[in-house]
Amino acid sequence: MPQALTPAREQRLQALAAQYGTPLWVYDAAVIRERIAALRGFDTVRFAQKACSNTHILRLMREQGVKVDSVSRGEVLRALAAGYTVGTDADAVHSDIVFTADLLDRETLKTVVEHRVPVNAGSIDMLEQLGEASPGHPVWLRLNPGFGHGHSNKTNTGGEHSKHGIWHTQLPDALAVIARRGLTLIGLHMHIGSGVDYGHLAQVCGAMVDLVRVVKAQGLDLQAISAGGGLSIPYRDGDAGIDTAHYFSLWDAARQDAQAVIGHPLALELEPGRYLVAESGVLLAEVRAVKTQGSQHFLLVDAGFNELMRPAMYGSFHAMSLIPADGQTRPTQATVVAGPLCESGDVFTQEDGGVVLTRDLPRARVGDLLVIHDTGAYGASMSSNYNSRPLIAEVLVDGPTERQIRRRQTVDELLALEL
Ligand code: LLP
Repeated sequence: MPQALTPAREQRLQALAAQYGTPLWVYDAAVIRERIAALRGFDTVRFAQKACSNTHILRLMREQGVKVDSVSRGEVLRALAAGYTVGTDADAVHSDIVFTADLLDRETLKTVVEHRVPVNAGSIDMLEQLGEASPGHPVWLRLNPGFGHGHSNKTNTGGEHSKHGIWHTQLPDALAVIARRGLTLIGLHMHIGSGVDYGHLAQVCGAMVDLVRVVKAQGLDLQAISAGGGLSIPYRDGDAGIDTAHYFSLWDAARQDAQAVIGHPLALELEPGRYLVAESGVLLAEVRAVKTQGSQHFLLVDAGFNELMRPAMYGSFHAMSLIPADGQTRPTQATVVAGPLCESGDVFTQEDGGVVLTRDLPRARVGDLLVIHDTGAYGASMSSNYNSRPLIAEVLVDGPTERQIRRRQTVDELLALEL
């Protein structure tokens, strides 16, 4: 839910926009710390850094005792750069870093072997390749329970239409590869989607316990289970926020059932991305043009879908506020909010499928500041250089202080890659 825009906060955002230029990502460390605190029941909270992988955000997570999930070689190297370490194989269940994916490209395979990063395998081929390259390597199994859920079809990661995870009925085959290759099983993991509906939770927990039974029946042991991520946040007024205590209690009950099956204590992990960072972030953009096309009123800002891709990609809703440059109150107007890209889909007010929507906003003028809320997750991390636009700066606010945690990229840097 967007933090209230008090006059003091409006002034601060205006000052940041003036100092660092727009478009600009701004994160609030206090919100991240609050979200971490709400998940304390879990033995391990492992941040899915794809949501926001700036190393300064990762350092903040590390200082708060949060571990990290990496899904590419780049994300493994980011975690190491942020001070995360990998312990010994014997302590692999406590590893700061886990690598989760459905395949290992050759470079990444070398990196996870070199740093001995535990691998959460989403395919049997991964197990074979890892076993060949790295005897005894610690592994998790990411399982697809045969059903999934998400805020859009594009974020549903379970069921037969999803490419993710090892299909639940193939768990015995995966365990046989682990035994044959001499890999070490740490735990079972399940992530059925992002922005999940909690009605599915009991079903997910039940599936996890059933799969632990399969491990036991095959004579293997494990030390942990992971609930994956997927915790949603209230993007719209009236969206129910997640009850983290209830969420924990359901998973804790599943853990106890799993412990009864396996015969000893199991660690319980959670792997959230969005929940930890989404509400900490805003995207600031300057209004650069306003125009009326037939019956539609357009407000054009200097940020596009190359910065915030979620509305164009999923039809995602983000709350927006306009801060008038002159501080005056203006009448509201149904407004289409769009960006600078040479592409019709560069609209921040749209539904999945590209239908353009309007938002009631104060009548905008050039020079006003648009605040796009709840963009701390899958904002900067999904940005691109489309239309040869350099990546923008990121600022981390912490109480009265703030610091730039990524400077703006330059066009020269883009061109340098091509020489
Ligand atoms: N664990 C695994 C294995 C995942 O694949 C993901 C997200 C997460 C954890 C974290 O999910 P979260 O807690 O953030 O929902 N770009 C989309 C979201 C895609 C998420 C992909 N995997 C969006 O902007 O909504």
